[in-house]
Amino acid sequence: PEDIRVYEFAEACGKSPAEVITVLFGLGMMVTKNDFLKQDELEILGEEFGIEVTVKDALEDANYVEDYQEEEIDESNFVTRPPVVTIMGHVDHGKTSLLDKIRSSKTAASEAGGITQHITAYTIKQNNQKITFVDTPGHAAFSAMRARGASVTDIVIIVVAADDGVKQQTEEVISHAKAANCPIIVAVNKMDKEGANMDMVKAQMAERDMTPVDWGGEIEFIPVSAKTGEGIDDLLENILLQSEILELSADPEAKAKATVVEASLEKGRGPVATVIVQNGTLRVGDNIVCDTTYGRVKAITNDLGKQVKELGLSETGRVLGLNEVPVSGTIMVAQDSDKEAKDIATTRAEHARAKELSKSTKVSLEEMSGLI
Ligand code: GTP
Ligand code: MG
Repeated sequence: PEDIRVYEFAEACGKSPAEVITVLFGLGMMVTKNDFLKQDELEILGEEFGIEVTVKDALEDANYVEDYQEEEIDESNFVTRPPVVTIMGHVDHGKTSLLDKIRSSKTAASEAGGITQHITAYTIKQNNQKITFVDTPGHAAFSAMRARGASVTDIVIIVVAADDGVKQQTEEVISHAKAANCPIIVAVNKMDKEGANMDMVKAQMAERDMTPVDWGGEIEFIPVSAKTGEGIDDLLENILLQSEILELSADPEAKAKATVVEASLEKGRGPVATVIVQNGTLRVGDNIVCDTTYGRVKAITNDLGKQVKELGLSETGRVLGLNEVPVSGTIMVAQDSDKEAKDIATTRAEHARAKELSKSTKVSLEEMSGLI
């Protein structure tokens, strides 16, 4: 993948670049006609235009460092892990408010140390069971994660405002969630508002193949209010039910593998990556590689801003110690030695550079031959 540009794709399927750009733009992906399309973007475009897209790598990637080397999997070490839940929905339908309300209602103020600002990811406990929440990383980041095979989300919550109903981005989110192939729960928010209409939302969703359980379908609709807190316990109970059905498990003893959901350069701290642990336990002192970046975990702060020594399965925290800011959606993997971590990152960087060079010097038909 990543070998075909927008205009080449357009040409290959008889569309104008503008048509292709418009579709992607509608999904929150900003591209120009010279940008390379990612696997998931190609899939979406294929769906949108009703064509089958298969992409073959024109460049032989055989020598590329084995991506995220899968360890020997020993299921005997597997334990149940908490679900990771992503909240998505139309602008202003209350994603952030809902997340903040859940967090504040489940975290004692003292524990949170008075932290009130919004954070991207956090873990709460409901009936002594953990749930990790992630705010919409934005469609683009969500797609990037999927494109990299990072299926960080176990369950998607689609927030729909009860007084506004299904909107354009709701529809986009539905198709993203379906593509991600994970269970969906619909949180019908703003139930406190005048004009809130649960049945309207259900009808609109049913039209889009999202039929409520009480209408004979499979999707749970939970009425909630991020303002009053109504329905939040129902929502959490429902998440735990879905999670039980999924039988999520992983190996806490394995080498740590975590997904970066956000990263930035912080003054005085260097690159900071917010991660969610998918397998193993991430510890201070671990040698890590994250795509083309690497380093040693210097410090970890949890979602309450406290320093911790380690992050367990499905837990989230901010990791210090990488040499550069990693891209969201990339996977952080612990390595046996600092040399190993550095070697992998360096080889990947070289490979990426070589590929970039070959792209700019040779955008040929050969590269496109695998398309369609
Ligand atoms: P974006 O991140 O911009 O897409 O929006 P969002 O989905 O995160 O929505 P946000 O939480 O920022 O809420 C948008 C507005 O709706 C804010 O003014 C909230 O106060 C209001 N709001 C959110 N939830 C509720 C609710 O349950 N009831 C009422 N009355 N207002 C709500
Ligand atoms: Mg928001």
